[in-house]
Amino acid sequence: MISTLLSRRGGADGAPAPRLVYGADYNPEQWPRSVWEEDVRLMREAGVNLVSLAIFSWARIQPAEDVWDFTWLDDIMDLLHAGGIGVDLATATASPPPWLTAAHPEILPVTARGETLWPGARQHWRPTSPVFREHALRLVRQMATRYAGHPALVAWHVNNELGCHNVHDYSDDAARAFRDWLRNRYSTLDALNDAWGTAFWSQRYSDWEQILPPRLAASHPNPTQQLDFKRFSSDALKDHLRAERAILREITPGVPVTTNFMVMGGTKGMNYPDWAEEIDFVSNDHYVHPGPQDRDELSFSANLTSGISGGRPWFLMEHSTSAVNWQPVNLAKRPGDLVRDALLHVAHGADAVCFFQWRQSAAGAEKYHSAMVPHAGPDSELFRTVTGLGATLKALSPVAGSEREPAPVGILYDWDSWWASEQDSHPTTLLDYRQEALDWYSALLALGIRADLVTTRGDLHRHQVLIAPVLHVVPADLAKTLTRFVEQGGHLVTTYFSGIVDENDHVWLGGYPGALRDLLGIRIEEFGPLPAGESVELDDATTGSLWTDRVAVTAPGTEVLARYRTGVHAGRPAVTRRPAGRGSAAYVSTRLGVEGVTSLLPRLLAPAGVAGELPEDARGRVETAVRRDAAHRYLFLVNRGEQAVPVRGLSGDVLVGVADADGVLTLGPRGVAVLRQPLA
Ligand code: GLA
Ligand code: GLA
Ligand code: GLA
Repeated sequence: MISTLLSRRGGADGAPAPRLVYGADYNPEQWPRSVWEEDVRLMREAGVNLVSLAIFSWARIQPAEDVWDFTWLDDIMDLLHAGGIGVDLATATASPPPWLTAAHPEILPVTARGETLWPGARQHWRPTSPVFREHALRLVRQMATRYAGHPALVAWHVNNELGCHNVHDYSDDAARAFRDWLRNRYSTLDALNDAWGTAFWSQRYSDWEQILPPRLAASHPNPTQQLDFKRFSSDALKDHLRAERAILREITPGVPVTTNFMVMGGTKGMNYPDWAEEIDFVSNDHYVHPGPQDRDELSFSANLTSGISGGRPWFLMEHSTSAVNWQPVNLAKRPGDLVRDALLHVAHGADAVCFFQWRQSAAGAEKYHSAMVPHAGPDSELFRTVTGLGATLKALSPVAGSEREPAPVGILYDWDSWWASEQDSHPTTLLDYRQEALDWYSALLALGIRADLVTTRGDLHRHQVLIAPVLHVVPADLAKTLTRFVEQGGHLVTTYFSGIVDENDHVWLGGYPGALRDLLGIRIEEFGPLPAGESVELDDATTGSLWTDRVAVTAPGTEVLARYRTGVHAGRPAVTRRPAGRGSAAYVSTRLGVEGVTSLLPRLLAPAGVAGELPEDARGRVETAVRRDAAHRYLFLVNRGEQAVPVRGLSGDVLVGVADADGVLTLGPRGVAVLRQPLA
């Protein structure tokens, strides 16, 4: 779908074959027209074939309620088309103009503390405001009508990063919409009272109108109310997405619709696996958060985006050429990072490589954010690197449209568990759901074993081993799915605080890990979280932190892979595995960190016969990812470190990289190579 966006259009470049998309957010309204012409010329020089336009243009397009000005946008659409550049056209609804918020301050979001988020930045709108919705949809209709049939238009970009700043709104509009959402979920107040456990602390509701969002309260708000509010907030934005999409599909039925997700770092407000079903292709924004696992995190996010996209190609809508402007200290990328980061996304299924933004702003809050054309101008090392990447992506055209080849290991990533496990009033506030999953991913990278991030909507049976870190929320049907997976020969690995609650955040009774107790063959009577900085030793020389459990083995045949050597549980099981059906179910009761998981994993993977694919001396130093189409597989090799790594014994056409006469591919520091291999 993505790779054919450009060819379908048959613009001035008329590119017949599928190719990768290369481009950026483009904000021409920040520049005089003379710059636009230079922009198009430089875009062509860099190999750019698509830009996202009009994302923050509402105030320019509609300067007053009944005044519309499309002339400038017509002009730039035509210029881009003449230059052979396609447009991912935004619906422009991301940042409401001052005239609208002045006339209708009731569209402004409200925090849990009751503070209004005032205009002056962006995304200052309530997802549930009927007034905002009406004005936004009017704009969408104008945009769609105006540009239906324009030859530059290749896709629609709904709003921008829905929920980036406004996902949790506690306003009166939100309260009303939340009640409707709850009525729809529970039908009766009795059902809601049961689900929310309102017998606790005198919270029983006798009228729907009494129900509020979990606003700042005297103590911990009801946990199920909090969890449902998270679900509702994601759904409210999804509803906005659907409302815009309905108009776009009505007026331009042939033009695919997307919206840019934010699968990165700690962004967790939007349930993207659920949203993915609403759009024609998945797109994502990703920014590196510098730190010891930063590129593992990039790979993890790209991999998870691929999982959300069902393994189909997706669109990298934004990343940065170098520094951003919103971290405490904004580091410039090192030589090699720009290309490596971009290609790592492609390795995990991106068919488009786009940046925020094309030309670095001279004014505004993002003027110190890097871009494809920096403040220094095109005569710069950065622009030369950008142009080089354009050429590399052209060489990678054959990859366009290929899907991900399923990996032997799946890592289950579940939004409900993410939301619920980190709520307040729990055994610890230190638990970090995403970090635990990332640690398992890093450990697999260190062992040179490919893994796919998957969601509960994916086909779990594709994997020989399924790792489900902190799978906290386990409804009865998920427990059944996992049991079936094991019975049919799959190997399940799960960790502390898994299987604890059902979908209403009610504890499965009778001993932890409730829903998975029988499958795992263990029983836990009490949790043993550890204070920050404290750790315990295991008898396999690994170290645990964050959490311990008082584990008793209950099912015969359950092996103890490691015991606690220190701490209050000394002598008790720390890691167990129960052979079950044709597979097995393992439990890791503490946080082992990357090093500990790396040391434990070979024992967990052994029954499945899963091991690294590369020659021993490259394994773990080089990340591999594989895409394939009907005729070929594309092997991506990414050097994870600062030392050159020779990779021997691989065959195939070298699409990116250089092999010597003996066929040895040497990856420079942070270097990338791509091989095309015929499918047998
Ligand atoms: C997000 C937004 C962009 C821009 C970048 C900066 O991705 O969508 O408009 O603000 O962040 O990193
Ligand atoms: C206080 C309250 C109790 C309970 C406990 C929990 O003592 O009176 O209702 O909340 O704290 O520690
Ligand atoms: C996200 C957005 C950025 C910026 C940061 C702030 O990552 O993409 O534009 O707003 O959040 O933390």
